[in-house]
Amino acid sequence: EKGGHPHYMLKEIYEQPRVLENTLGGRLYEEEAGVELGLKLEPTHYDKVHIVACGTAYYAAWVGKYLLEALARVPVEIDVASEYRYRDPVVDDKTLAICISQSGETIDTLEAIREAKRKGAGTLGVINAKGSSITREVDDTLYIHAGPEIGVASTKAYIAMLAAMAMLAVWMGRAKGTLDEKTARELLSEMRKLPRLVEEALEQRPRIAHIAEKYHQAQDYLFLGRHIQAPTAYEGALKLKEISYIHAEAYPAGEMKHGPIALIDERLPVVVLATQSPFYEKTVSNIQEVRARGGRVIAVASEDDTKVQKFAQDVIYVPRTHPLLAPVVSVVPLQLLAYETAVHLGRDVDQPRNLAKSVTVE
Ligand code: F6R
Repeated sequence: EKGGHPHYMLKEIYEQPRVLENTLGGRLYEEEAGVELGLKLEPTHYDKVHIVACGTAYYAAWVGKYLLEALARVPVEIDVASEYRYRDPVVDDKTLAICISQSGETIDTLEAIREAKRKGAGTLGVINAKGSSITREVDDTLYIHAGPEIGVASTKAYIAMLAAMAMLAVWMGRAKGTLDEKTARELLSEMRKLPRLVEEALEQRPRIAHIAEKYHQAQDYLFLGRHIQAPTAYEGALKLKEISYIHAEAYPAGEMKHGPIALIDERLPVVVLATQSPFYEKTVSNIQEVRARGGRVIAVASEDDTKVQKFAQDVIYVPRTHPLLAPVVSVVPLQLLAYETAVHLGRDVDQPRNLAKSVTVE
């Protein structure tokens, strides 16, 4: 049932192009420059958005914040659900509270969305598991259609969450009039290409396996990314920690010089998300700073990049896409890096120690 793959995680990583087709399927309408999500909620009613989630789903929330703020010009707050439920958040009936969850059973996420609902918010679940507890309590559900996820480390659900958040941002931006027709059409046509681009990103596996082997004895890893790629860095670090048990930390790249730069030496692999974006040059400067201090740079760069290879020891190339969609394509090599490292270390990839697939206790 692993489809010829040695682990569920690898099977699910390879399913991602099909998953994206399912998430986006029948929902993108380039002609009308919009999306059809079948939601009852009225997007123009809300003047702020709160998003709550845990773990990997929280990083999807963080990507969602950039998307919603860029396209719908609505202020977005994100919280890990276990913090939100106890911070007495300021919520009113103009607040749209979104929760993101693969299982739909995570207790902290359920309690956080209940708290928002009690305070009068409209509630929307971005959920994978059909009929799960959260779907029975929210006003509306946007299913991500990733199919059952068995590997404890979330991969295909994450990519589906990102696609769902991009669609929500277009939905809200079009309704509010902040996203013009031309830009919407361009984005939708880029979204339609994502399954193929993820397919291409998967082809980097041999190079990634080589990098994983080279650094499998590292004690620590650092992951850096800017803007919408900061959450990608955090997700890459989380995946590596979970299944290889190598300590990994992530920072927004600009924060590096405010402390973590002290960690850099020739034993530290530093993964830097350096895909094309308006912040590309700044990220290249960060790579040079790491390099100047002896750090080992593993860069994730756009396929036509020629500059990064001058400064990084290793470069993983990913297809170009719209900068707001870059997390979808760029997370793939980080999933594979975690997977190949864990396999190299002989870890139990599908059942990492101390972890459960769904966390139904606080
Ligand atoms: C990471 C992972 C966890 C979950 C988190 C939320 O690989 O699997 O961090 O993402 O426990 O789970 P859901 O999405 O089911 O609410």
